[in-house]
Amino acid sequence: MAGVPLKGGWGREEQDMLTLVTGTTGQVGRRFVPRLLAQARAGENVRILVRDAARAEPFARLGAEVVIGDVRDDEALAKAVAGADAVVNVAAAFRGVPDEEAWAVNRDAAVELGRAALTAGVRRFVQVSTGLVYGVGRGRPVTEEDESRPGGSMWGAYPASKAEAERQLLAMEGLDVRIARLPFVYGEGDPHLAQSLRWAGQWAATQRLHMGHHADVAQGLLRVLHAPGIAGRIYNIADDAPVTAVELHQLNGAEVPAELHERTDPDPWLVIMSTDRIRRELGYRPRYPSVYAARDAGAL
Ligand SMILES: NC(=O)c1ccc[n+]([C@@H]2O[C@H](COP(=O)([O-])OP(=O)(O)OC[C@H]3O[C@@H](n4cnc5c(N)ncnc54)[C@H](OP(=O)(O)O)[C@@H]3O)[C@@H](O)[C@H]2O)c1
Repeated sequence: MAGVPLKGGWGREEQDMLTLVTGTTGQVGRRFVPRLLAQARAGENVRILVRDAARAEPFARLGAEVVIGDVRDDEALAKAVAGADAVVNVAAAFRGVPDEEAWAVNRDAAVELGRAALTAGVRRFVQVSTGLVYGVGRGRPVTEEDESRPGGSMWGAYPASKAEAERQLLAMEGLDVRIARLPFVYGEGDPHLAQSLRWAGQWAATQRLHMGHHADVAQGLLRVLHAPGIAGRIYNIADDAPVTAVELHQLNGAEVPAELHERTDPDPWLVIMSTDRIRRELGYRPRYPSVYAARDAGAL
């Protein structure tokens, strides 16, 4: 499967293809959808499910078809998947939302979207997930074969609901589900890198964050979407160089608080992910192997 092309790969170039994307107005979606549209061949179309019509406009101008609705609304889901060949479920609720909303969006709506897709005859379903589903570290980079082990300082409703969505979607007979587990995503003006200090300020100096640039997350998602014959497969997407709490402060031009050096890292392998599988099977190579490469390229 090495070297799967970013373009096409459906094996039916002569027919029209429609891909539904949720979560397009979010940090990942707003950078992924323009790339999905840009690499589309003639006859490959993109539909987005968005809550707010005004916020859909920039994507409509790029050529996306728009369906307005909430992922928790079954009617909106049915409308969104009608006639679609593939789904990329990017939507999630995790930025300061109550736990009930996290469960409703990340698990319940994702599973309902999977059911709606199955009913509508959708052929591929990419579930965008998170490396946080691994839970506690294993003393080495986690691989896609590792079971979720709930616990650790980052566990909560968000990873728990994403892990449960993965489990239920993968169990859906007849649906070609692919899971993409993302790292901490940054770049292209996303304020996430600055926000990382909210956590990194509480960490030990050596605690590391595994990251991935938006360009590489989009690259990984496109590879997972287009590759033939990977139903049920899980892929980690990340760069090659997790950075420490000290470096996160430096990258943000912030002073490193002295307390960082007094703490010890309770789990040095927490959410440090192996990317061997996506490299070997799908030809993924990060364009920005480290946050420093992205900084040098002016891509932060
Ligand atoms: N960013 C990261 O570092 C990171 C790391 C690991 C995994 N991920 C995964 O990547 C995906 C995207 O994350 P993100 O950072 O882009 O998140 P985000 O910026 O918070 O965006 C979330 C998106 O989901 C949409 N959404 C939320 N609730 C919805 C609902 N009830 N109905 C319809 N749409 C809804 C939001 O729409 P509105 O704009 O209308 O609110 C928005 O488009 C998620 O699946 C997340 O788990 C992200």
